[in-house]
Amino acid sequence: MAHPVRLLCLLAFFGSLHVAATSNERENDQQALLCFKSQLSGTVGTLSSWSSNTSMEFCSWHGVSCSEHSPRRVIALDLASEGITGTIPPCIANLTSLTRLQLANNSFRGSIPPELGLLSQLRILNLSMNSLEGTIPSELSSCSQLQALGLWNNSLRGEVPPALGQCVQLEEIDLSN
Ligand SMILES: *[C@@H]1O[C@H](CO)[C@@H](O)[C@H](O)[C@H]1NC(C)=O
Ligand SMILES: *[C@@H]1O[C@H](CO)[C@@H](O)[C@H](O)[C@H]1NC(C)=O
Ligand SMILES: *[C@@H]1O[C@H](CO)[C@@H](O)[C@H](O)[C@H]1NC(C)=O
Ligand SMILES: *[C@@H]1O[C@H](CO)[C@@H](O)[C@H](O)[C@H]1NC(C)=O
Ligand SMILES: *[C@@H]1O[C@H](CO)[C@@H](O)[C@H](O)[C@H]1NC(C)=O
Repeated sequence: MAHPVRLLCLLAFFGSLHVAATSNERENDQQALLCFKSQLSGTVGTLSSWSSNTSMEFCSWHGVSCSEHSPRRVIALDLASEGITGTIPPCIANLTSLTRLQLANNSFRGSIPPELGLLSQLRILNLSMNSLEGTIPSELSSCSQLQALGLWNNSLRGEVPPALGQCVQLEEIDLSN
C-alpha cells in the first residue's frame, strides 16, 4: 500500500509540473508576441499596448484574443488594416494555439515563413493585400485545420504547392492578383 505522505508528495510534484508547463506556454506566448512586434517598423503606434512592462496581461493587448479557460493561450491575432510595416518572423509559430492570423491590408514584406506550417490549430490565414514576395511554402499543408487561405494582392510567384491538396478542411482560397 502506498504511504499517504509519499502519495501526497507525488501528487504535489505532478501538480507543480503541470503548473510549470502551463506557465511556460503562456510565457512563450508573450515572448512570441514581443518577438513579432520587434520585427515591425513604421506605424507600430497601434501596438503600444504590446509591452511586457505594463501590468496589462497580453490577452488584453490590441488585436490579441485568448482562450476563455486557463491556461489562457493566444488563439487569434486580428491586425488587418493597421498600417503595419515589417516582416513576418518565424517566432510567430510559437503561438501554438493560434486559430486565426489576420494580417490583411498592411505593408508586410519579405517571404511567408515556412514555420507557419507548425501552427496545427490554424483555421484562418489571411495575408492578403501586403507586399509579400517569394513562393507559397508547401509547409502550409501541415496546417491540417486550415479552412481559409487569403493571399491575394501580394507579389508572390511560383506554383501553388500541390501539397495544399492535403488541406481537406480548406473551403476558401484566394490567390488572385
Ligand atoms: C515601457 O514600454 C514602453 C513602450 O514599449 C517604452 O517606451 C518605455 O520606455 C518602457 N519603460 C520602461 C521603464 O522600460
Ligand atoms: C486598408 O487599410 C486602409 C487604412 O490603412 C483603409 O483605409 C482601407 O479601407 C483598407 N482597405 C480594405 C479593403 O480593407
Ligand atoms: C520558441 O520558443 C522556444 C522556447 O522559448 C525558443 O527556444 C525558440 O527559439 C522559439 N522559436 C522561435 C522560432 O522563436
Ligand atoms: C482576408 O481579409 C480581407 C480584408 O479584411 C477580406 O476582404 C478577405 O475576404 C479575407 N480573405 C479570406 C480568405 O479570409
Ligand atoms: C492591389 O495591388 C495593386 C498593386 O499591386 C494596388 O494598386 C491596389 O490598390 C491593390 N488593391 C487593394 C484592394 O489592396
